[in-house]
Amino acid sequence: MAKPITPTKTGATPQMRGISNAQANGPAAMQSQPQTPPPSADLSERVPTGIEGLDDLCEGGFERGSSVLALGEPGSGKTTMMTQFLVNGALNHGEGGVFLSFEETKESIIRHSASFGWDLNALEKQGAVAIINYKPHEVKRLAEEGGGLIWDTITETGAKRIAIDSLSAYVILFESQYQAREAQRNLFELVRKWGCTTMMSGEAAASGDRSSVGMDYLSDAVLLLHHPRQRNVRFRAIEILKMRGTNHSQKICPFEFLPSVGMKVYPGEDIFEEFGTKGF
Ligand SMILES: Nc1ncnc2c1ncn2[C@@H]1O[C@H](COP(=O)(O)OP(=O)(O)O)[C@@H](O)[C@H]1O
Ligand SMILES: [Mg+2]
Repeated sequence: MAKPITPTKTGATPQMRGISNAQANGPAAMQSQPQTPPPSADLSERVPTGIEGLDDLCEGGFERGSSVLALGEPGSGKTTMMTQFLVNGALNHGEGGVFLSFEETKESIIRHSASFGWDLNALEKQGAVAIINYKPHEVKRLAEEGGGLIWDTITETGAKRIAIDSLSAYVILFESQYQAREAQRNLFELVRKWGCTTMMSGEAAASGDRSSVGMDYLSDAVLLLHHPRQRNVRFRAIEILKMRGTNHSQKICPFEFLPSVGMKVYPGEDIFEEFGTKGF
């Protein structure tokens, strides 16, 4: 099938095929979608996020090959968290990553990451991370052509981690609610076939209404990024609402964004007492 989409793709250059964990598939294989997850997707294995404090809450990390939905308001830290997941994978675990953005441009993602000390430009040059930015008018083509370009990039880079930012930005581009739901379902189907450990973000209001995304039931795990206000200050906290097959913490744990570090979770500390009536 012809590939009509021309999103801003970076990093998927021929030299990326030379990285150590690249898969040795030929061009023909790279055009087709996998029918089943790669055999390497051992579901009992944990994939460390490398985010300090977070892995302690979930048996050492995410389930390999699982889909993890991070829900939160704008500014709650979804994009930062997903970037950190990819950067840590590339730097510390030899796992390449693909960042699929429906929101921010590649330039914006790179610039904002630099404020945490993450050099996405360098990781891209090394072939360890690729950023694909879909413009709104290209998104329907992604749905139509079945993500072939993304699969090509995954194959070329040997990626094991994917970040999709965000599902809300993706589905809003479909005309009817029916089409949006179909598109959501198809995207989840694709993600499953790609066989990578995937983080996805979704906008959710602090009011408790998660129906705007309506995808929590499709994902293997749901993380809530809280950003509640107490008097004149906002706090940050993370909660694992669901993680299949995992004896995860039930606690809502405070976290911070630290320059040159990124997200740092404090499992031993408590969020202010009144919280709970104000969160999701
Ligand atoms: N270098 C930094 N150090 C500390 N906090 C930062 C830094 N850069 C951004 N932030 C915080 O992170 C927030 C952005 O988080 P982001 O991941 O973009 O949220 P979301 O994707 O949920 O909208 C900013 O509003 C700011 O509060
Ligand atoms: Mg964001």
